[in-house]
Order: sequence, then C-alpha cells, then structure tokens
Amino acid sequence: MSAQRAGESFYVTTPIFYVNDAPHIGHAYTEVAADVLARWHRQRGENSFLLTGTDEHGEKVLRTAAANKVSPQDWTDKLVHDSWLPLLETIDIDNQDFIRTTEPRHEANVQKFMQHLYDTGFIYQGSFKGAYCVGCEEYKNKADLVDGTGEFEGIEVCAIHSKPVEQLEETNYFFKLSEFEQPLLDFYEANPNFIQPESARNEVVSFVRRGLEDLSISRSKEKFDWGIDIPWDSSHITYVWFDALLNYITAIGYGSDQAKFESLWPATTQIVGKDILRFHAVIWPAMLMAAKIAPPHQIFGHGWLLVGGEKMSKSKLTGIAPSEITDVFGSDAFRYYFMKAIAFGQDGSFSYEDLSARYQSELANGFGNLASRTLAMIRKYFDGALPSVGALDNPADQQVAAVAAKAVSDADDAIERVAIQDAINAIFTLVDELNNYITQQEPWVLAKNEETHARLAEVLYTCAEGLRVLAIALAPVMPKATAKLWAALTEGKLGELANQPLSESATWAQLLAGTKISELDVLFPRIELADGAESQTQAKN
Ligand code: ME8
Ligand code: MG
Repeated sequence: MSAQRAGESFYVTTPIFYVNDAPHIGHAYTEVAADVLARWHRQRGENSFLLTGTDEHGEKVLRTAAANKVSPQDWTDKLVHDSWLPLLETIDIDNQDFIRTTEPRHEANVQKFMQHLYDTGFIYQGSFKGAYCVGCEEYKNKADLVDGTGEFEGIEVCAIHSKPVEQLEETNYFFKLSEFEQPLLDFYEANPNFIQPESARNEVVSFVRRGLEDLSISRSKEKFDWGIDIPWDSSHITYVWFDALLNYITAIGYGSDQAKFESLWPATTQIVGKDILRFHAVIWPAMLMAAKIAPPHQIFGHGWLLVGGEKMSKSKLTGIAPSEITDVFGSDAFRYYFMKAIAFGQDGSFSYEDLSARYQSELANGFGNLASRTLAMIRKYFDGALPSVGALDNPADQQVAAVAAKAVSDADDAIERVAIQDAINAIFTLVDELNNYITQQEPWVLAKNEETHARLAEVLYTCAEGLRVLAIALAPVMPKATAKLWAALTEGKLGELANQPLSESATWAQLLAGTKISELDVLFPRIELADGAESQTQAKN
C-alpha cells in the first residue's frame, strides 16, 4: 500500500459550474471522479472534504437570465435548486459543501482578497482594448480566433464557441500576472505533479514559456453589473474568473475561519476539465502566490466526453441529461461506467451500446452474479448462516486471499496517481479470480457428499471473504450496490461499510461464522431497453 495518511486531510474540488443551463453528463463526469476520490480517501481514514458549487456571475449567466425574462438572482436560484443540487442526488455525490458565488461568505471574502492584492501593489489601473468571448468568459488574442462560417461568414469568431467575440475598450484594473512567469515556471519545475496528466503539464509549461501578459480583472458597470463590486471602486465589478477561482478558498474559511482554512488548504487535488486548465494552472497559482498563499498540491485536467467527435457542451446543445442514463441503469452503473470506460485524463465517447454491454457483462454477469450466486449457495447449503472454517490453508484459498490483497494495494496506488480506471481494473481482478475459483472448486459438486461438506464450507467462506473485500473496495465507485451486498453479507456485525478501513480490508477471515446471510436483491437487474430489446442480465445461479 502507498503512504498512509490516516488523519490527514484530503481536500478535493470540482470546478463550479455556470448556471446558464442545466447540467449534462460532462459535469456529472467531473463530479463522479471527484466523489470517487473523496470516498476512497475517506476509507483510507483521511479527513476527506469534497467541494463543489456554482459559478453564478458574469455576462453569460446574465444574458441567459435576460433571455428568460427574469432577474439574474432569480434565474440562478431556480437553476441551482431545480437542476444543480438535484444532480448531486441523481449521481450519488457525497459532497461536504456546495458553494454559490452569490453567497455573502464568498462575496465578502473575494473583496478581502482583492483589496489585499490592491494594497500590496499587484493590481493597477490600465486601459484594455481587445476581444472577449462571453461563452468562454475570457479575453482572447488573435490566435484564439478563427474565420466564422455560415451566419458568421466574414467575421472572426471564438475557436471554441464558433460565435463572434465582443470588442472591448475600457479602463480596467489589471492583475500583474506577467510578474509570475518565472515563479510559475520554477514552481512547475519543483513540483512535477502539480499539473497532471503529463500532457496537460506540457501544454501549460509551453504556454507560460511563450510569455504572460497582465490580466484585466474588472469590468466597468457601464456595460453590465452582475458581479462582485471592486472594493475600492464601485464603478467596476470583478472579472468572473477572478471571482470564481476564489471559491476554493472562500468556501473553507479564507478571510473568516482561519483554523478551518488551515486544516484544509492547500487542496490535495483540484479536478477540472482541460478546457479550463490554464485558468487553474496559471492564473490561480499566480493569484495565490501574490497573496502569499500556497498553491494547491495538484491540478488534474481530465478529458472531454465527446459527441460526434466534439466536446459535449451546454452552449452547443449537445448535452445528455445524467438522469436519462440513471433512470435506466441506476447511479452506480453511471458512476462505474464513466470511471471504467475512459482513462481519466483522456477524451472518451459515450454510447448507449457500450454502456449496455458493460453493464451486462461486467456488472450484471460479472460482479452482480458472483455476489448473488455465492450468497444463494451459502443460504442453500448452510441453512442461511456463514459456516465456520479451519485454517484455510488450501493453496487455492490462499491464492484468492493473495489476489484480494494485491487488488486493494494496486487500486490504492492507482488512486494515488488519480488513475481511477486502473484502480477499478485492479479491483476487478478479484471478481475474475473468484469466478475462476468457483468454476474450479465446483461447490455444487462438493455439496453432494457429506464427506466434502467441510471443503464446501471453506470454498464458500473464501468466496464470502472475497465479496467482503469487493464491497469495501468498490464502495467508493458503487455506494448503493456495495451497501446492499455489505448488509446481506455481514448482518451489521462488522459495522458500517463506509467505516471499513481500506488498509485492513484484505486482512483475511474477518467475517464471523454464524452470521445470518440474508437474501440479496439482484444488484444489477435486467434492463428493458426502450426499443423493446432486453439485455440478458439475469443472475444465473
Ligand atoms: O468553465 N466532458 O464552468 P462550465 C467532460 N464556471 N467534462 C465536461 C464537459 C465534457 N464534454 N463539459 C463540461 C466553467 N465539463 C467555469 C468554471 S471554476 C473556478 C469555474 C465539465 O459550466 C468539466 O469539468 O463551463 C469542465 O471543466 C466544466 O464542466 C466546465 O463547466
Ligand atoms: Mg464551459
């Protein structure tokens, strides 16, 4: 097992999402990854804290509210309550806090931070002339623009949103980002894990090497006023990204609860999509350096869920609602699928065919069937109670225990690298091992003779132990199915599943003889697909 950090804090964040529209599976993807990490670290005994929330200021949100003929505050309230908070239920996120940038605890401390940077000379007044993309909420250089097509033929448009940019010319306040070019490069050099994966790190390093310009961090209220007032000049509001990035510290007590802040900061890992990598890996650490606050330990830029080869997006209306999937397959399968099918850090295409196929083979016929047949055999052959066994020194049984120990240890190492797919693959070596073991040991044959009953007890006890380890190790990925399995397997005798320490999970023979094994609902039931086709997911034994 990798370094144990029991008692230490694990602070993980997601981006805070724009409330210009309801969430799609891309946002859910980020949430699930962060939640799996948070749950895993909690089971390691760490003080795990997951923060998520919503980014509510800026022109993009304001325009959407206006288009819907409501005030921006009413719009964001509605979207947060009707769409963004319910998302967390839909995909079973166990977050410790949810921050909205319109909350006083955020606004007041953003102002404190800004004032501090102004007082220490990192912010100055200047004049800005250039392009701005409202879709990106970002100032754009020539290189970020491309020739428009269709209705925008003949005009330059944002390369990401394919829509025209605004030409701005105003007096703004600037953050001295250029001063941090060398400090950032030194920081990246000294902290090779700060930006992950490697491809993201390389991209950011070469971007910073090309040179950094100072950043406009305010907008004149003459244009629009949906934002946080610049504390020393109320004719300006704070640039939405400068406001938004600070959520990661205002939520945990920056400016208001120093003890809490120090207990969680610097964040262990901040998960973002690669679309917003530069904000997090360049501007954000520079802001913190200016304020003499340590940067986070890591920014992890994950890949995109693609639709037709393009990034799924709210603004291009290509989003799939997470509930479309969870209503059919359940939240566990959603979480499992996206973490298992795509290497975290790379792009991936979602398809119902792939999801269905994996649901059937890996969850229903793999893990689910293993659990239901094992429990059914214990109930049938041992009158519903876990049999007592001797030393379990049969080499085949010992091999199962060894595979279990290696599975947990390899998974833990993978989580340390934020390689969630590798972690799941490692755990599933135990599913395969147990299925092979059952095939080889043929418990149904052992059950036929009184003389082989003692061996039958060993075999089924070994399988039950394997399932115990699987329940613990898969709990961060599939909290609901594993909780059911845990309840059926332990009769509550070993305490709560969430309290089972990973480091001791593979210590063998923890299940108590005599435990009443209760009936287990099918963990991953047969799915009736909309077109009438059925996936063959029924348990076989
Ligand atoms: O950028 N695939 O918010 P946002 C994977 N408010 N992940 C995706 C995705 C896709 N197709 N589409 C979106 C913002 N995401 C700012 C962030 S943080 C201080 C401020 C996820 O609503 C991914 O995490 O545009 C991406 O980085 C994020 O949603 C962007 O969400
Ligand atoms: Mg976006």
